[in-house]
Amino acid sequence: MFTRRNWVLRLSIILNIAVLLYVGRHIASKNGGVDFIEELQASGRNLASIDISQLPLEPASSGGNSAAAKFIILDNTDRSATARGQSNSEGKQSPTVVSASDVASSIIISTKKPTKPSSSVATSEQSVVMDLREQKSSQSVPETLQYVNGTMKKLEDAVKCHDRSVEPRTAQRSDFWVLYNYIPATRKFRCHESITYTTHADYTFLDNLVPLLERWQGPVSLAMHAPGTDFAPTLEAIRYARDCLSPLISEFVTFHVFFGTRHVPKQVPSASSVIKESANCSLPAPWANVSSAALYKTKAKILYPVNIGRNVARESAVTHYILPSDIELYPSPGLIQNFLDMVRRQDPPLLHTNPKVFPLPIFELEKGVELPANKTQLVTMLKNGTAIPFHKKLCPGCHNIPKSKEWIAAKETTGLHVFHIGKRTGYFVHWEPIFIGTHYDPLYDERLSWEGKSDKMTQGYALCVLDYEFQILDNAFLVHKPGIKTMKKDPQRAMLAGKTNALIRKVIFPELKVLYGTKKGCAV
Ligand SMILES: *[C@@H]1O[C@H](CO)[C@@H](O)[C@H](O)[C@H]1NC(C)=O
Ligand SMILES: *[C@@H]1O[C@H](CO)[C@@H](O)[C@H](O)[C@H]1NC(C)=O
Ligand SMILES: *[C@@H]1O[C@H](CO)[C@@H](O)[C@H](O)[C@H]1NC(C)=O
Ligand SMILES: *[C@@H]1O[C@H](CO)[C@@H](O)[C@H](O)[C@H]1NC(C)=O
Ligand SMILES: *[C@@H]1O[C@H](CO)[C@@H](O)[C@H](O)[C@H]1NC(C)=O
Repeated sequence: MFTRRNWVLRLSIILNIAVLLYVGRHIASKNGGVDFIEELQASGRNLASIDISQLPLEPASSGGNSAAAKFIILDNTDRSATARGQSNSEGKQSPTVVSASDVASSIIISTKKPTKPSSSVATSEQSVVMDLREQKSSQSVPETLQYVNGTMKKLEDAVKCHDRSVEPRTAQRSDFWVLYNYIPATRKFRCHESITYTTHADYTFLDNLVPLLERWQGPVSLAMHAPGTDFAPTLEAIRYARDCLSPLISEFVTFHVFFGTRHVPKQVPSASSVIKESANCSLPAPWANVSSAALYKTKAKILYPVNIGRNVARESAVTHYILPSDIELYPSPGLIQNFLDMVRRQDPPLLHTNPKVFPLPIFELEKGVELPANKTQLVTMLKNGTAIPFHKKLCPGCHNIPKSKEWIAAKETTGLHVFHIGKRTGYFVHWEPIFIGTHYDPLYDERLSWEGKSDKMTQGYALCVLDYEFQILDNAFLVHKPGIKTMKKDPQRAMLAGKTNALIRKVIFPELKVLYGTKKGCAV
């Protein structure tokens, strides 16, 4: 009797365990991806800094088809353009990023036009857009909107800011070492005096500095990713650019250098000694003929930590106004002066109490063409087909945007004004424009990598919840380095993008909701 009951009990326990094991296994395999991501979080590592050699070959769970097993990126030889198309015409893998979801990319859509409700514009109730210039030119401008010459302010009074230090310093940031202000620009700026173009790159992108600076003529804060043996050629490239290419580079560009803590170079000269050596200008540029496959970064399979670079460059900018951009995007000439004039005038939109940023429309150019000197020239190029709206080829539906036509149709005027005010809702819910902003704007999530895409999503969400106004400028724009991109499939990157989406959805978005709250119409 006793033994029989005992046996029944034992049998039931075994059965239970079997069921539990089965169910557990099932759940584990379903959640493999999430487990992996949470593991990342727990270990305090950044997605951006993970390299393949450190990934488990199999996920901890039995879901062999999930997460880590697929977490292999970037074939060394595949440097093709991607869905985001940020590779340049030579096929280098570009750290330049404008997100895939920037459907509207550069172009400004107005879905609602208060002055002309009958216009053929697609409607979306949530998009708040005004054409301020039309308002201005119409008779019924409220008096408060009118600009009175007498109120012209001194820039110093219009821009409330503190001057910042450019002292070199070494510091840790997430899983990285950063040499801030490693090679400072020779020209110093007070915080109200200019706008800083902030960007990131590896040394193979330094060829962009000359066309960029010839147009920008102002301070640039550049964070350079230089892990392991990429460090020495990076230093050479910086010296070469400063000594041999254009005096504008040493005058305006402040270089920061960063690398993962597991990829510290053998030697790091002190900031003071590094510029004492000069480059041999009769040699070819250190980046000439360097393929992406030859980079340490590629060989070590390091994901490009785009947001570390963005944040380092942004935080080190000494001016109040900043233009966080990608190094292959060149601004229209005269932008700084015209923008500061607008600030000095305190045009009515600038007095709005909402936080605001100033997006710039972006255009692509055909290979070999001259860069447009102004909007009039850009429009001619759009008409003869040598320029197209950014990502027109990658996202054919995106160019067909009513308000972009109006931006293009609006005749160039002198100076700079706010053309529309948009919000990141409705049609724009995933909009990730490039804009002039300030140090007060939210930074970028350092867990996201360039390869994983969606790297500006979290900032975009914060801007939406904080009710930012996107005050789009009329005569200013960005052009991409000449060479129009076409779509190529990159399955590995697509896979990583899926992982990143899971990370954003399951981990980052809940955090953002706690930190910034929620708001109707806002999404990551
Ligand atoms: C306002 O200033 C502009 C440029 O400084 C000048 O051309 C214009 O004549 C001024 N208008 C008035 C009413 O003073
Ligand atoms: C610079 O490079 C050229 C070409 O290789 C070489 O002939 C020359 O000696 C070098 N100059 C210096 C100062 O190293
Ligand atoms: C570029 O590299 C290739 C292969 O390494 C070499 O054959 C070619 O001569 C190089 N071209 C230049 C301009 O250095
Ligand atoms: C635009 O640039 C072209 C070429 O430099 C010049 O001829 C033209 O006058 C400029 N237009 C305006 C409106 O500044
Ligand atoms: C297109 O227009 C630009 C700007 O006027 C001009 O420089 C270029 O030669 C034109 N290209 C063609 C193919 O017409």
